[in-house]
Amino acid sequence: MDRLDGPPRLILVADLDCTLVDHDDPENTHLLRFNALWEAHYRHDSLLVYSTGRSMLSYLNLGKKKPLLTPDIAITSVGSEIAYCGELVVFDDVWVARLSEMWNRDIVVEETSKFPQLEPQPERSQEQHKVSFYVEREHAVEIMKVLPGILMERGVDVKMVYSNDYAFDVLPGKSGKGGALAYLLEKLENEGKQSSNILVCGDSGNDAELFNISQAYGVMVSNSHKELLQWHEENAKDNPNIILASERCAAGIIEALQRFNLGPSFSPRDVLDAEHFQEEVLDPAHEVVQFYLFYEKWRSGEVDKSDKYLQNLKSLSSPLGIFVHPSGVEKPIHEWIDDLKTLHGEGKEKQFHIWLDRVLFSHISSDTWIVKFDKHELSGKSPVLFYKSVIELSGGKAKAGVDAHPPIMVNWFLFR
Ligand code: GLC
Ligand code: MG
Repeated sequence: MDRLDGPPRLILVADLDCTLVDHDDPENTHLLRFNALWEAHYRHDSLLVYSTGRSMLSYLNLGKKKPLLTPDIAITSVGSEIAYCGELVVFDDVWVARLSEMWNRDIVVEETSKFPQLEPQPERSQEQHKVSFYVEREHAVEIMKVLPGILMERGVDVKMVYSNDYAFDVLPGKSGKGGALAYLLEKLENEGKQSSNILVCGDSGNDAELFNISQAYGVMVSNSHKELLQWHEENAKDNPNIILASERCAAGIIEALQRFNLGPSFSPRDVLDAEHFQEEVLDPAHEVVQFYLFYEKWRSGEVDKSDKYLQNLKSLSSPLGIFVHPSGVEKPIHEWIDDLKTLHGEGKEKQFHIWLDRVLFSHISSDTWIVKFDKHELSGKSPVLFYKSVIELSGGKAKAGVDAHPPIMVNWFLFR
């Protein structure tokens, strides 16, 4: 969050399972489309917030299987934890302290154990501020009528959330995905970083609270669970700022960006034209995302092995432009483009994909930029493999160390 000085252009709050992540799509088609869109057009001035029922550990494990971008903020365990994800992951202790008011986990466990229908979820799904069970809907409805009163008599204020026809969470009264988001928005406002554009995205019961945030636009993805649709019917059907997408998962999120006019909604993955991917107005993040999409198509053999593409790439970049690899190795960009020749079609059999994460840039001088990003390679069906490396695409040698050599300002985007 610290990287933004003022209000974010957009705050996008997305649930993960069956919202951003489509478990029925092993190719991750729409997630990869979303990733390219976010990194090309939103990362530098907007905030990406994940809001999930998963614990932090479980969310991180999902990230080993699915190409998930690094969010700015992760709200985990149905709002029980908030973590800021910069170079380090920092948990919000103030939020934890707030949740501890009128909460006593032992009492919750004791009182819930008196309902035999409640089957505790595994230990890994239990948290200090989240006690979770499996239960059928009809029992959940009955228990929800009486349990809050019983606990209140013992000084414990709870919120109960039922999701997906099986998951039952007992949380501190202030918690939940909505409680955590309201707290976060208040915090951002106090820091002068409130945004007038907030989009919340969900698919099931524990997401309903997100749609209660009055200033937010909302999208229920097309594959939303009936419990969320029913909640919407009963509570928000006249709110024009909440829509049911016609597309699934991440594609539904992209659809909402377009329908609410919240910013670009064409993913570079949808519009890549290997021959003419130059833009009118220079946008370094977009250029780099497109550059790597071309690289993906080249290595996958999806574009012809034609020298004209490589010449075109060269014409977009300065002969003086340099890549700085995290290992410290530097290479002229034009040399790197020449090396591509031997890689054509090399990833053909592997379902080879590249996705970039945390694409951030700085303007050094009128035509010089440093763009920094993480590059992930993804190949094969299962298990999914990731090779993570950080590459700095540099307009200069600034990163190599001012002491070692005086910075030589060479341009990546010269001659445009
Ligand atoms: C996730 C959590 C689970 C919770 C459910 C609904 O699946 O792992 O503990 O009950 O979300 O919120
Ligand atoms: Mg979900």
